[in-house]
Amino acid sequence: MSTLPKVKGLRGYDYYLYQGFWYDPFFLEGIMSVQDRFNPQSTDIFVSSSPKTGTTWLKALTFAILTRSRLSGSTTSSLLTKMPHDCVPFLEFQLADQNPSYRDLAIPLLSTHVPYSCLPKSIISSSCKIIYICRDAKDAFVSLWYFLAKMQRSDNVEPLPLEEAFELFCNGIANYGPYWDHVLGYWRASLEFPEKILFLTYEEMKKDTAAHVKKLAEFMGCSFTLEEEEGGGVQKIISMCSFEELSSLEVNKSISSPIQNSVFFRKGEIGDWANHLTPEMGARLDDIMEKKLKGSGLKL
Ligand code: A3P
Repeated sequence: MSTLPKVKGLRGYDYYLYQGFWYDPFFLEGIMSVQDRFNPQSTDIFVSSSPKTGTTWLKALTFAILTRSRLSGSTTSSLLTKMPHDCVPFLEFQLADQNPSYRDLAIPLLSTHVPYSCLPKSIISSSCKIIYICRDAKDAFVSLWYFLAKMQRSDNVEPLPLEEAFELFCNGIANYGPYWDHVLGYWRASLEFPEKILFLTYEEMKKDTAAHVKKLAEFMGCSFTLEEEEGGGVQKIISMCSFEELSSLEVNKSISSPIQNSVFFRKGEIGDWANHLTPEMGARLDDIMEKKLKGSGLKL
C-alpha cells in the first residue's frame, strides 16, 4: 500500500488509488485480501453498489425476498432483530479475514462496494449473480458527506467542510470513487451479461417498488407465485423494508461498534441534495456526470 498514490480523502486521512479507484485504507486491505483468496459458491448473489446509493434498502429487500419461504407460523424475519448489514455480509469487510462465522451458507446473499473491474476474478468467472444499485450523483454525494461527517464527529474529528468534500468528489476522489467509473463499470457489464447482472437505480425503485420487488425475485430465481401476490406477499416485503419501518426498529437505532446503526438511515428521499448544495454545485456535478456517461446509453 505504501507504494500507491495517495491524497487526503473525505474522511480527513489518506485515500489510496488502487486499480483506478480511491479507497479508505481499511477497506483497501480487505479488497486486496479477497481479490487473492475469495471463492464464491456458484449460487451466490451479490448486492453491489457505490456507498450511499441504497445498499441498506436493497440488502433488506433481497434478504426478505430470498428468505420469505423459511418463515412460517410465528417465525419472524431476522430483519426485525438484525441490521440489514448484519443479515447480508460485506465481502471486503466481514469476509476479508476468511471468518466463516459471518457467512450463512444456506443464504447465498453477500454484498460489496468493490468496482466491477476490481472484483475477485472468481466472482466474474463463476455463475454468481450481481444486483447493482446506483443513484443520482448529487444525492449520493450529500448522503456520503453526512455519513462521513457523523463518523468523524463520533471520532471527535472535525468533518471536512461540505464544499471541500464536494471538490474532491467532483475530482473523482471519494470512497470507491470515481463515482461515474463505478457506475459505468457495472452498467457496461450489465449490458454484456444481462443474465448475470441486474442494474437498478434508487429512483426507479422508489417510483415503482412493487415491480422491482417482483423483478428482484425473478432475477434471484424465486419468483412470487400468484397465490403469494394475491395474498399481499409483495406488499408485506415492501412495508417491512420501508425506510419508516426499518429506521424505527430498535436494532437499527442502536449503537454497535464501530458505528451507530442509525447512520444508515437519514432521510431516504430523492432530491434532498437541493437542500444542501447550491444550484451551481448541482449543475456542475450534473455536467460532469453527463460528460462521463456520454455514449454509454445510461442517464442518471
Ligand atoms: P440519504 O442519506 O439520502 O437519506 P446506503 O445504504 O448505500 O449506505 O445508502 C444510504 C441511503 O439510503 C441514505 O440516503 C438512507 O437514508 C437511505 N436508506 C436507508 N434505508 C432505506 C430504505 N429502507 N428505503 C429507502 N432509502 C433508504
